Amino acid sequence: MFFLDSNAPVPLFKQLYNQMREHILLGSLPADSKLPSVRDMANNLAVSRNTVDGAYQELFAEGYIYSKPRSGYFVSPLDQESAPRSLVSKPDNQAPPLQRAPTYRYDFHPARLDPESFPNRLWRKFFLECLRENPQQLSEYCDPQGELGLRFAIQNYLERSRGVVCDPEQIVVTAGLQHSLDIVANVLKEDHSRVAVEDPGYPLASTVFRNHSYKINPVPVRPDGIDLDALKAGNSSIAYVTPSHQLPMGYVIPVANRLNLIEWAEAGDKFILEDDYDSELRYSSKPIPSLQGLRPHGNIIYMGTFSKVLSPALRVSYIVLPRSLLARYYRLFQNHFSSVSQLEQRTLAKFMVQGYWNRHIRRMRSIYKKKHDTTLRAIKEHFGTLAVVDGQGAGLHVVLQLLGATCGETEIIRRAEQKGIRLLPFSWTCASGKSVPVRLMLGFGGMTEIEIKEGIALLAQACH
Ligand SMILES: Cc1ncc(COP(=O)(O)O)c(C=O)c1O
Repeated sequence: MFFLDSNAPVPLFKQLYNQMREHILLGSLPADSKLPSVRDMANNLAVSRNTVDGAYQELFAEGYIYSKPRSGYFVSPLDQESAPRSLVSKPDNQAPPLQRAPTYRYDFHPARLDPESFPNRLWRKFFLECLRENPQQLSEYCDPQGELGLRFAIQNYLERSRGVVCDPEQIVVTAGLQHSLDIVANVLKEDHSRVAVEDPGYPLASTVFRNHSYKINPVPVRPDGIDLDALKAGNSSIAYVTPSHQLPMGYVIPVANRLNLIEWAEAGDKFILEDDYDSELRYSSKPIPSLQGLRPHGNIIYMGTFSKVLSPALRVSYIVLPRSLLARYYRLFQNHFSSVSQLEQRTLAKFMVQGYWNRHIRRMRSIYKKKHDTTLRAIKEHFGTLAVVDGQGAGLHVVLQLLGATCGETEIIRRAEQKGIRLLPFSWTCASGKSVPVRLMLGFGGMTEIEIKEGIALLAQACH
């Protein structure tokens, strides 16, 4: 009946008091009913007796319960009419109560990072330095396009590691991919109305462009990238692609097909949106250069993020706009302010300029390579010939295709949940909303190697 959360900021006794009070006011704890003894309640809720005693004392002091000598506590009879309206009746348009996300012992969500990996000590040091160094900057808005120091650091990094050719003036620091796509959708909408997206693919791109009234054209993805014939047939003038590590399949577009895609864009005033989201994490081969690097002056809008290697909680990402779009960007966004905290931007710039970003990438690559290898070994051990793996060798997840599965995705997810396993449905990435054949996305970033091994052993049981 009562749910207490030891991670919540509200003390446990207060949580219990609030919930009991609400049940009394709603009548679900009826007048004169006897409450469990302090000891029984504490045992049931697995909390200390002090917690329960604290809640009972407060309810008693406010008259919600009364006590009888040697019998314990009872609910006071209350006049329901005088109970606070917000508790006894719910207005029709009230939003449903927030659902607490369940926690899972084995969480295979592909967007989770190693929980121990954030460079806490360095971040705190640089953050404090930023606070001390130039306090008057905190009384001003920062550059709407992003702190110049950070844009220089990003430009330098992209040039060296991704072959991206640009100037800091082409870079816009954004608060995540959603924000990047929002800007791009605004910049392109004067001349474009139809966007091709990968199918299966990252659904956020479709959502953002649909919200800007673009028509969405899902195009099948093959192991060598987006199907170019289908792309051409669809008459879209924008293509959103994830060429370094296709989401979700993990395919890497070979250079020959990157050039074909560029050729498609050059034949007409078309644009490629290159989402290079986890290009840092390649485990077995050298990264393939970005599309933007292959045609620095082409119609390619490059997008990157710090969410995969540093932290998705920071909300720092970036766009590299082609020069041809800068005038329009300035016109449309001239009265906008930066959406990313100046302090976080300056902290990140220090982290990058002082060489820690490259070191951090190397460290993360080694941590995730171990988890990636453990995942593949566990799949081999527990699924054997009953599954095929796609997308290995990069990123934070692999895709498991089940051979001869006897039930569908929904049933497998349900069974997995019963074993404490969380899976993000693969069908979430499919334009049709259906995943045929049955595929599972296995993110390994947020799990320990032991959890990966145990989780995959249990998952195999849930699939067979
Ligand atoms: C395909 C793809 N691009 C980009 C991102 C990163 O998005 P953001 O920068 O908003 O954290 C993700 C996150 O999961 C992703 O799956």
